[in-house]
Amino acid sequence: AIERTLSIIKPDATRRNLTGKIAAKFEDAGLRIVASKRIHLSPAQAGKFYEVHKDRPFYGELVEFMASEPVVVQVLEGENAIAKNREVMGATNPANADEGTIRKEFALSMGENSVHGSDAADTAKEEIAFFFSGLELVG
Ligand code: CMP
Repeated sequence: AIERTLSIIKPDATRRNLTGKIAAKFEDAGLRIVASKRIHLSPAQAGKFYEVHKDRPFYGELVEFMASEPVVVQVLEGENAIAKNREVMGATNPANADEGTIRKEFALSMGENSVHGSDAADTAKEEIAFFFSGLELVG
């Protein structure tokens, strides 16, 4: 089915001017960027976005990192977009990521891993609504 998923190009990647190279990976995989914006999250906004991880030991570091510099948030649309995006990103830990994936090529560490992508249909819907209004989604 045609799906939409939320993607974030993280501060370690925007800082190194990798926005275009990462977006090209999504487009080359057949995903269409139907919304895109560069924003600088406040710690409160980053904390809210990652609230599901609030009891994990890495939460504080994650929130601080995500609010440290700008990010680019995008909505990707296409056939099986949620799974396809996760394939293109590669494993969370770049040490385990397959050849050719974004995290294998660009990620610096488990925390500074260049991209975030929604993990399921319900979270994709919530995460898209967190950043975008319906009017901003242009299919
Ligand atoms: P992301 O897909 O954005 O979702 C949560 C993030 O927490 C994850 O990618 C990692 O960048 C980050 N993180 C940092 N440490 C860990 C860890 N030990 N386990 C899982 N995620 C971690």
